[in-house]
Amino acid sequence: MPTIRAALLPDHLASFQLSGAVAVVIDVLRATTTISHALEHGALCILPVASIDSARMIAHDRTGTLLCGERGGIKPEGFSLGNSPAEYTLDSVGGRELVLTTTNGTRALHMCDDAHEILTASITNLDAIARELTRRENDIVLVCSGTDGRFSLEDGIAAGLLAEAIGSSHSLDDSAAMMCDAAIGAIERCAGLEPAIASSYHAQRLIGLGFGDDVRFASQRSTCDIVPCFDAATGEIRAIEQPHAAQG
Ligand code: MLT
Repeated sequence: MPTIRAALLPDHLASFQLSGAVAVVIDVLRATTTISHALEHGALCILPVASIDSARMIAHDRTGTLLCGERGGIKPEGFSLGNSPAEYTLDSVGGRELVLTTTNGTRALHMCDDAHEILTASITNLDAIARELTRRENDIVLVCSGTDGRFSLEDGIAAGLLAEAIGSSHSLDDSAAMMCDAAIGAIERCAGLEPAIASSYHAQRLIGLGFGDDVRFASQRSTCDIVPCFDAATGEIRAIEQPHAAQG
């Protein structure tokens, strides 16, 4: 049976074997939530880039591409969209290519370039990702993006819930088993998924910046069926067509 493992931070990936594995990058607040929401609302593809300068250059070179992202949670000057999922509507992103740069999430994606396949997960598309992963025979590495080098509770909760959801097709190693127990414990301690996520350091920072609606949005489990896949060769994130969706 293939194994599922969990990295508390992308900086821990050096001790993980990514080649041949499916890497699942998690940045609940807010990059991977925004990515699935943008694809759900018709974005053609998303180009995640690590730096603001590269994002500006790509947007300049690819006519019609929307410049999106944040630094310190805030939309940088000259960008079309920030990192609030609610900004990514059919009107704003439908039929468009997006360049996205965020403080932690887009960096984490590029740290997984060696993986066989790279998916992005959040709470909002958790069960769609779990269904997709149960079809894989590869080992899985759950990658928590963290916040400015610190472990983020909300990413750990999503990783633990994912490990729990796919535990029948993959065996959990110690790190995934611990994440699973910790997620269940955090949800119990806070009396619910939404308050558990709201209790995190990153959520409190976003609430302080006036992004409380984003925190609530990002805490809703499985409101979205999109499975985003990052192709490191093309640099694009696109939605994977899912068999169950095609069957209606
Ligand atoms: C990140 O990638 O660091 C986050 O998405 C930051 C944010 O909350 O916008």
